[in-house]
Amino acid sequence: MTEVKKLFVKTYGCQMNVYDSERMAEALGAKGYVATDVVEEADMVLLNTCHIREKASEKLYSDLGRLRALKVAKPGMKVGVAGCVAQAEGEEILRRSSVVDLVVGPQAYHRLPQMVEAGGRLVDTDFPVEDKFSQLPERKSLRGPTAFLTVQEGCDKFCAFCVVPYTRGSEVSRPVARLLDEARGLVAQGVREITLLGQNVNAYHGDGPGGAWGLARLLRELARIEGLARLRYTTSHPNDMEDDLVAAHGDLPQLMPYLHLPVQSGSDRILKAMNRKHTAEQYLRLIERIRAARPDILLSSDFIVGFPGETDADHQATLDLIRAVGFGAAFSFKYSARPGTPAAEKTPVPADIADARLQELQALITAQQRAVQDTMVGREVQVLYEKPGRREGQMVGKSDHLHAVHVQHPEGRVGQLMQVRITGSSTNSLAAEPLSGPI
Ligand code: SAH
Ligand code: SF4
Ligand code: F3S
Repeated sequence: MTEVKKLFVKTYGCQMNVYDSERMAEALGAKGYVATDVVEEADMVLLNTCHIREKASEKLYSDLGRLRALKVAKPGMKVGVAGCVAQAEGEEILRRSSVVDLVVGPQAYHRLPQMVEAGGRLVDTDFPVEDKFSQLPERKSLRGPTAFLTVQEGCDKFCAFCVVPYTRGSEVSRPVARLLDEARGLVAQGVREITLLGQNVNAYHGDGPGGAWGLARLLRELARIEGLARLRYTTSHPNDMEDDLVAAHGDLPQLMPYLHLPVQSGSDRILKAMNRKHTAEQYLRLIERIRAARPDILLSSDFIVGFPGETDADHQATLDLIRAVGFGAAFSFKYSARPGTPAAEKTPVPADIADARLQELQALITAQQRAVQDTMVGREVQVLYEKPGRREGQMVGKSDHLHAVHVQHPEGRVGQLMQVRITGSSTNSLAAEPLSGPI
């Protein structure tokens, strides 16, 4: 019998890291590790890191600093660093921190169990030819009615600011048959909503019956799975938003009316310097096409402020684009120079100017987000209950438009899809009352 050991996992960064953490925990589970939320109890601590901005990657070193005392008290404890900082810094992490035993990149983590067994201080940041997914155990550690499913990984776009093409490697799509199997397995375990993940998810082109399938065709096939009520996908690039995918938003009821479509800037000059390969006008035309297919779609985006060379006029162009679209949500970041990316060579915008622009942009987005949210009041929507709320008799879930909704519903249960009426809107969520029985 294998001895039971405890595993503590901390996940930084994007949803793909959330997915990867789950799969790493399962891979280690096959070696006798069970999850714990208490770091002090852990026999192994796994930090699944993000390299996207300087602040994100520095978090690793502050956490490693805190783990030092713990490891002194418990010398047998293993510390592993996974994810994008592992890929970017490799052995450097072992040199910088004596606390770390293992460093494993995002394309090598199926080999984590062997590394743990081998012992010693090891680094694996290869991009193996074999599909890591086919080497991982089947998914079983489910917590709720929603799940992520990685369909595509890596990126060939090389935006001038971004580390992802270096940390995740070039675009690879998983074969259709494997994805359908994984999705059916998830649904059999009670999952009702699947979010397809990829760094460039709409560039998906996996092997399927009859040749390469695009994302739209994959979504159409997934929509046929009995019991799978909702589909979403993220993150998309505007240039890969092909006609059949836009059309799918109009004719697939399972495809939820929410689309995260990062634009980064509204200035053509900056978009060009960022190597985004589209103009602001092209983005706006695309939004029109998407809204023609699905008029009630909620759009969200990512913005970078203070990209090298950004002037006040460029910043105003971004604000204009935000006003023109009317985003229901958005993430915005101050530009962070990343080692090895082309933009890192350029002269930065002074920090105080970038800070002021970020504040201005965020105020606009917050107001827009709130305005879109307020239009929901009085409407009937569906909510998938994900967990009980903090108040007695309350359930919390997401609406079709991905709004967090609190529903007063003492008979409600997790995994139930309910028709509700929105009764109120506050900063980050909506309140609602249940209308009909379970769907
Ligand atoms: N694949 C997605 C997003 C990848 S990273 C896309 O194509 O848009 C998520 C977001 O982080 C990006 O959309 C961008 O807004 C932000 N980001 C990436 N690199 C950054 C950097 N160097 N500084 C600040 N923000 C950055
Ligand atoms: Fe990074 Fe996205 Fe650009 Fe790829 S498309 S380089 S992931 S921002
Ligand atoms: Fe971060 Fe890597 Fe995701 S850099 S955003 S964890 S792809």
